[in-house]
Amino acid sequence: MKDFIFNVDTKILFGKDQMKNLASEIKKYGSRVLLAYGGGSIKRNGLYDEIIKIFEENNIFYKELSGIEPNPRVESAREGVKIVKENKLDFILAVGGGSVIDLSKLVAGAVFIDGDPWDIVIRREKINKALPIGTILTLAATGSEMDKGGVITNPETTQKLAFGSEYTLPKFSILNPEVTYSVNAKHTAAGVADIMSHTMENYFTLDDGAYMQNKLSEGILKTCIHYGPIAMKEPENYDARANIMWASTWAINGLLSTGKETPWSVHPMEHELSAFYDITHGIGLAILTPRFLNHILSDETVDMIRAFGINVFGIKETENKFNDAKRAISALHMFFEQDMMIPMTLGEVGIDDEKLEEMADRAAKHAGGSIKGVVELKKEDILEIYKASL
Ligand code: NZQ
Ligand code: ZN
Repeated sequence: MKDFIFNVDTKILFGKDQMKNLASEIKKYGSRVLLAYGGGSIKRNGLYDEIIKIFEENNIFYKELSGIEPNPRVESAREGVKIVKENKLDFILAVGGGSVIDLSKLVAGAVFIDGDPWDIVIRREKINKALPIGTILTLAATGSEMDKGGVITNPETTQKLAFGSEYTLPKFSILNPEVTYSVNAKHTAAGVADIMSHTMENYFTLDDGAYMQNKLSEGILKTCIHYGPIAMKEPENYDARANIMWASTWAINGLLSTGKETPWSVHPMEHELSAFYDITHGIGLAILTPRFLNHILSDETVDMIRAFGINVFGIKETENKFNDAKRAISALHMFFEQDMMIPMTLGEVGIDDEKLEEMADRAAKHAGGSIKGVVELKKEDILEIYKASL
């Protein structure tokens, strides 16, 4: 196991009765709040009214940044920066899924630079300071509630890129599983696929000596496999929503990648799909992952994939390890397709072969020439994985 420092100090307030702490948590950092949210789900499920009442009762001044889109766009960050500056706001409350939280992180940092928010994403500007952020998570998926990063889309350049800074780690996050009861089946499934993908990106490594982290990863994957289908059938099952929510947070907050090299593989390929076709991130990951595993199956990786099948899906070990590994990949595919009802081809989400080459080229370029994951993926490999996903 390699040396590491683990220091993720987002305060988590988990459960049904945590909104009573919202005002006091905000007041530790500020009193003039940018309330950031998406397309209106928080108005439909009553969360918005609850927040406004708390603001009014506690004399918290606020301005709204609404309409943040899934695959959030840099334009919304520009608007957010303007609202913050005009109203001298000193705190951001992000209420939503990963898109709202990610966009809020960019606003928090961009307020203190001279240039455009996009300059941060393309690394022309660095975040050296940021407004404090708190989150109320409404969708279990990205882990943005307890990580430093965000992913922003620029439609003008057809780019979707990640950024991150120690300054944009949320100060606190309120996680009430009941708030996720209203998440529809598609986004519930996409969220579970995203959590599993984060876990697998950290898990699929070779001979790293990080046994404990890998066992935790298997536990998170099994949690998703157990509770994902329950949440699909019973959207208001508290334990299902609670376990998925907590899995979301721990899949990507840094714990699973401690002590090992975990360069990610499937996310860089998926970000091109969302950038070009605006598809739902978790759906893209679910489609690509079995094809990725199939592509990298070799003498070098067979034991790793086979162990995944045995430990996570409970497949029976046989003498033919390649067959075992293939059964593991197909168990993952079937789980996404049959239990989580995810459309498992690119064709079903509106992607044909027209731009595959361009996307493969971009995915390789954005990763510095090739994706240096558990196995190096050159442009040709990425293209093959895309083609196998059609
Ligand atoms: O916009 P509203 O009306 O709120 O509706 C949203 C949106 O349409 C809806 N929703 C959210 N909570 C709801 C709800 N509907 C009903 N009830 C609720 N309680 O769900 C839709 C999707 O929301 P979004 O925030 O886009 O989903 P998600 O949390 O999956 O975030 C996806 C974004 O995060 C990025 C992705 O690339 C994508 O842009 N990621 C961020 C990461 C990070 N910060 O570390 C890592 C991830 O790998 C990922 O790349
Ligand atoms: Zn993800």
